[in-house]
Amino acid sequence: MPGPMRQSDAPRTYRVKSFGCQMNVYDGERMAELLAEKGMSPAPEGEEADLVVLNTCHIREKAAEKVYSDIGRLVKKGEEAGRKPMIAVAGCVAQAEGEEIMARAPAVGMVVGPQAYHRLPEMIDSAASGKRATDTDMPADAKFAALPSRRKVGPSAFLTVQEGCDKFCTYCVVPYTRGAEISRPFSDLLREAEKLVESGAREITLLGQNVNAWSGEDEAGRPVGLEGLARALAKLPDLKRIRYTTSHPNDMTEGLIAAHGEEPKLMPYLHLPVQSGSDRVLKAMNRSHTAESYLRLLERFRAVRPDIALSGDFIVGFPGETDAEFEETLKLVDEVRYAQAFSFKYSPRPGTPAAGMDNQIPREVMDERLQRLQASLNRDQLAFNQASIGKTCEVLVERKGKLPGQWLGKSPWLQSVFFEGEAAIGDMVTVELAEAGPNSIRGRLLQLAEA
Ligand code: SAH
Ligand code: SF4
Ligand code: F3S
Repeated sequence: MPGPMRQSDAPRTYRVKSFGCQMNVYDGERMAELLAEKGMSPAPEGEEADLVVLNTCHIREKAAEKVYSDIGRLVKKGEEAGRKPMIAVAGCVAQAEGEEIMARAPAVGMVVGPQAYHRLPEMIDSAASGKRATDTDMPADAKFAALPSRRKVGPSAFLTVQEGCDKFCTYCVVPYTRGAEISRPFSDLLREAEKLVESGAREITLLGQNVNAWSGEDEAGRPVGLEGLARALAKLPDLKRIRYTTSHPNDMTEGLIAAHGEEPKLMPYLHLPVQSGSDRVLKAMNRSHTAESYLRLLERFRAVRPDIALSGDFIVGFPGETDAEFEETLKLVDEVRYAQAFSFKYSPRPGTPAAGMDNQIPREVMDERLQRLQASLNRDQLAFNQASIGKTCEVLVERKGKLPGQWLGKSPWLQSVFFEGEAAIGDMVTVELAEAGPNSIRGRLLQLAEA
């Protein structure tokens, strides 16, 4: 029998569910840290939490619609258990559709945008006393300063260094949900990185919507770009690897390219979205680079770091994309030979210029184009993995594998590598890459690397 409905109590346990990009994952971790500092504890596995934070993504329609079905599911589960969970909607849907969520979903007690989540603790108190609250203030200046210090983290940690976007690609909601580009100060980042390393991180991935637009001043007051930050972080002895994502072709600098040839801790991997191989489509997308300028940029990376693994993002079926223009995307893919890539069907987003363009592409055409593109990308990913076979490399062990004695980690080229033998989470081990699959590589453990 369900007990009496419990509501308006101060929540004691929490669960944060993050969707979307890595920055949302980072934000989710920081929200959990805030809740822990408030004295709450994570809900045990398999148990309902008193407070559920849905940290949402607005990038494509499917992602955005998910929030309503998630809310429905939480309410239903709560009813079955005779309780009313406190629900907070955070992330980019909160920013874009906060009022609509409040109107459409009475079970939601709080709506908090990506630049306002440091206020979550006060909002919980207010929700517990029966007052629903919305905070979608921007920009982010106040947020980072108000967050508690980092807790225990895994061997591979995220660090947001840059946030927001001023590029306004015509299909994209991010400039509206994340606001204008801001760079966090150098000294704050150094301090947060030190904390992450003290807490067990061996690899840090620097995050930004346009991470290579990061700029700041080093300790001597000299202006530095992302490569300066990476080089400073590389001096932390226990930090073994540095990655960064996502870059924009137009923000790429000589300095960052050069650093790939000089700084061994900077991993040989570059995620550089291109979206399309057609200059007409790129222009309509407001990408402000051409297929050719993009290819030339990649050549420069390959010149300083020939083994660099390249990754990209693609959109098929942008309004007006013709068959011939789509073929140009396939041609670009054939030329680059990506190690990994992400491809999406164009999704019209409310409030973006592309959503109002003529010649929206029928779903079947998008389906067919996506299939063809993904066939090419999968072919290249497998080929890249196969070409790695026989190489010896370091793997950072991130977790246990499915089988007993099995471990999982990443190669320098961001391939998932599994192997058997004596190891522990956080170890850097030397592995020979032995057998390639499309999504992972079987490795043979040679030795534990020098600590
Ligand atoms: N700032 C990054 C990431 C943006 S979002 C960048 O510029 O690359 C990640 C990817 O989602 C984009 O690169 C793009 O490929 C895809 N995307 C963004 N908006 C989209 C939309 N409306 N429909 C389909 N895919 C989209
Ligand atoms: Fe969106 Fe373009 Fe900004 Fe990337 S650069 S976040 S795709 S607007
Ligand atoms: Fe999604 Fe927002 Fe990231 S829309 S992709 S969660 S920046």
